[in-house]
Amino acid sequence: MVSVNRRHFLAAASAAAFTSMTSLGRSAEANDELRVVVIGVNSIGNTHLNGFPKIPGVKVVGACDCDSAVLGTRVEEFDKKFGYQLKKYEDLRRVFDDQDVDAVVVGMPNHWHGLATVWGCQAGKDVYTEKPCSHNIWEAGQMAKAAEKYDRIVQIGIQRRSFKHLQDFFQEVHEGALGKIKNVKGLYLSRRESIGRPTSQPTPPATVNHDLWCGPGSTKLERAKYHYDWHWFWDYGNAELGNNGPHILDLCRWAVGAEEFPTAVSSIGGRYAWDDNGQTPNTHLLRYEYAKAPITFEIRDLPTATGKKDTCDYMGLSYGIVIEGEEGTYLGFDTGKVVDPDGKTIREIKGDTGSDGGRQLHRENFVKAVRSRKTSDLNCPVKTGHLSTALCHLGNISHRTGEAVSLSSLSERIQDQPLMSDAAARMTEHLAANGVDVATAAVEMGRTLTIDPTTETFPGDEAANRLLRREYRAPFVVPEQV
Ligand SMILES: NC(=O)c1ccc[n+]([C@@H]2O[C@H](COP(=O)([O-])OP(=O)(O)OC[C@H]3O[C@@H](n4cnc5c(N)ncnc54)[C@H](O)[C@@H]3O)[C@@H](O)[C@H]2O)c1
Repeated sequence: MVSVNRRHFLAAASAAAFTSMTSLGRSAEANDELRVVVIGVNSIGNTHLNGFPKIPGVKVVGACDCDSAVLGTRVEEFDKKFGYQLKKYEDLRRVFDDQDVDAVVVGMPNHWHGLATVWGCQAGKDVYTEKPCSHNIWEAGQMAKAAEKYDRIVQIGIQRRSFKHLQDFFQEVHEGALGKIKNVKGLYLSRRESIGRPTSQPTPPATVNHDLWCGPGSTKLERAKYHYDWHWFWDYGNAELGNNGPHILDLCRWAVGAEEFPTAVSSIGGRYAWDDNGQTPNTHLLRYEYAKAPITFEIRDLPTATGKKDTCDYMGLSYGIVIEGEEGTYLGFDTGKVVDPDGKTIREIKGDTGSDGGRQLHRENFVKAVRSRKTSDLNCPVKTGHLSTALCHLGNISHRTGEAVSLSSLSERIQDQPLMSDAAARMTEHLAANGVDVATAAVEMGRTLTIDPTTETFPGDEAANRLLRREYRAPFVVPEQV
């Protein structure tokens, strides 16, 4: 641990000197080849391996993964497609040591985002970090400090920020295109399967360096499927709220025009219909208070009814946002429409979404900022990613500090909150359709937490404040001083 910390301390010290040189050098020679390594290449990382080489002047020079099977496959596929061998790394610290690398893409699970970004900045690399920005609120602050201190370009992978038609439309919304905004609803009405309950202690695949995979989190393995299912364990993931929530809540916050934390959060939810050992809710309602307009968010991972394969919708939308304005309603996700009170479309909001679900436009934006050395050129710098990701963390903190109450008592408990009452009625009906006995079932009633947007903390609330950060497993510790 000491040697690792010392090595990174030394790397950081030399990075500080190196940084100012590269910043000047790159802005002076904007057409230099940009050498990129992607870290974590199973799923989203693979799309980055394939997307970055399409940008003129960018060369992907390596891939890093602590699962040698994943790494081997991706490097082989890359060679077939692009005609050259990538350098392979098992340990991301070797990527940061490599002076031949200019920028890294963090496609690892959520619990690695903060530390990998800080290490990357300390080593003088520019960093494209996938959403959610961080695994907890505190470490996002450390990421921002590191980006600033080492003068690094850090983009967070909330790619819809790079859609020009949404930039333009939300600007119009801020200027009153829909009249005063009454509320914004986020929707992620999806369908997933139970992850099961292993009958014996699972073991990591032989190809995985489990210690490296776990990094800051616990090494206790509780899931049968090693990759992806970590989303449903608090040590590594942030629930569906922190998985697809950053995309949707970012749109909600963008629509409201809120550039700070909300003043309060509340949450209702639970994990229903599945007999498995996932820890996070599969049904979740959230509410965020902003002076401009409240945001609510409905998450469902169960189908319309037991045995069905389809997903629910609200006003015809399963994923996206509904902005309810006094003079019009907007419904959309990548693209959208403004409807009149009868639901008739009066305007379409559409434009170029590029390829790969918008990610290619976002990568291009990152490269543009790397070349200009201006964080202001980024469509989703750490601050933007943090404010939207924080909404996920705040909702999870409300959930995790709450208490179980009977589902049948819910309507009475929230009768003074019309938006939540409506959403809870829809949720209860949906649970009943999925075989939940709503007369006897419990629901986790998250606490309504008051937030100080200036300090980004919960005044006087020790239990909630404790969840603003995590315990880091040494040596994988986000430093107090970046
Ligand atoms: N922007 C988007 O639209 C989008 C879409 C999907 C996923 N994501 C985000 O991307 C991240 C990865 O998601 P995924 O679905 O690809 O997950 P995944 O579990 O399928 O893949 C993660 C990979 O990271 C590797 N990894 C873990 N720890 C590592 C370490 N210390 N060093 C090197 N490699 C390591 C794993 O071995 C695995 O191959 C998540 O944070 C997710 O939220 C973003």
